[in-house]
Amino acid sequence: MKTISILNLKGGVAKTFTAANMAYEIYRRGYRVLLIDNDKQGNLSKAYSRYDAESVAPVTRLLAGDWQGATELIQNTDYVGQQCCIDIVTSNMSLFGATWNLTKEDSENQTERYKRFADIMGGFYDYCIIDNPPDIGLNVINALAITDEVIVPVKVDEDALEGLDIVTEQIEDAKAFNPALKLAGVLITSYQNTDGEAAGVEWLEQKTDFNILGIIRYSKKVAENTFMRKPIYEYSPCCGAAQGYKKFVTAYTGKAR
Ligand SMILES: Nc1ncnc2c1ncn2[C@@H]1O[C@H](COP(=O)(O)OP(=O)(O)O)[C@@H](O)[C@H]1O
Ligand SMILES: [Mg+2]
Repeated sequence: MKTISILNLKGGVAKTFTAANMAYEIYRRGYRVLLIDNDKQGNLSKAYSRYDAESVAPVTRLLAGDWQGATELIQNTDYVGQQCCIDIVTSNMSLFGATWNLTKEDSENQTERYKRFADIMGGFYDYCIIDNPPDIGLNVINALAITDEVIVPVKVDEDALEGLDIVTEQIEDAKAFNPALKLAGVLITSYQNTDGEAAGVEWLEQKTDFNILGIIRYSKKVAENTFMRKPIYEYSPCCGAAQGYKKFVTAYTGKAR
């Protein structure tokens, strides 16, 4: 199983949209995908219509160590094929309390909360994609502890690149407990072909420390697809955003569709 964390300290850069649509594109290529919604806002859970505000969320139980069998934490989505699927560990506001409680634990007990679960899941899924909040709390540190590659979605606006060095630093720090961790690169999202954005992309291209994994165009169709309750490819396969994720995932997985 390859585990990918979607991470950026900023909100609104299409982290959740990327996690949701990347999962769908990988699923379409015949793989088994496990999503972990690691953001208390639960937007990824909402995107796959599995959000539940009331109970203690599975991701909260995972972080708290309050589970026995891994299947207790996993739900199917509407995407189940013969060999392929998208399953999800959902989130809600209860994750906030669990993250806060963890700060009171011994430090050696703080970063390995997702490990046993990931080890078990490795036998069942080809890919695990973790959607993270726009901060680096202990739930994110725990995600980094089981991550193979980090993808950083970037929206090329005025201060797009703010915080990128902090993300890189955090990845370096997390290598202390996960030496295999790697920054795959940045994914440019919601791209509009203006002079300003083109200049931003050029600037990023020159910074060789950030590999550019792809460019996803801005699409009006995304806004129409209210609350993102459907992968964009199903809603509007020809729009720039759908084609962008398709192309990006082909390049990233090495498998076309
Ligand atoms: N390619 C795109 N074209 C148009 N709107 C987009 C695109 N990608 C993302 N969005 C919109 O941008 C907003 C923020 O995306 P979201 O994934 O929630 O960001 P984050 O998780 O980083 O906070 C959402 O309303 C989403 O629908
Ligand atoms: Mg989000």
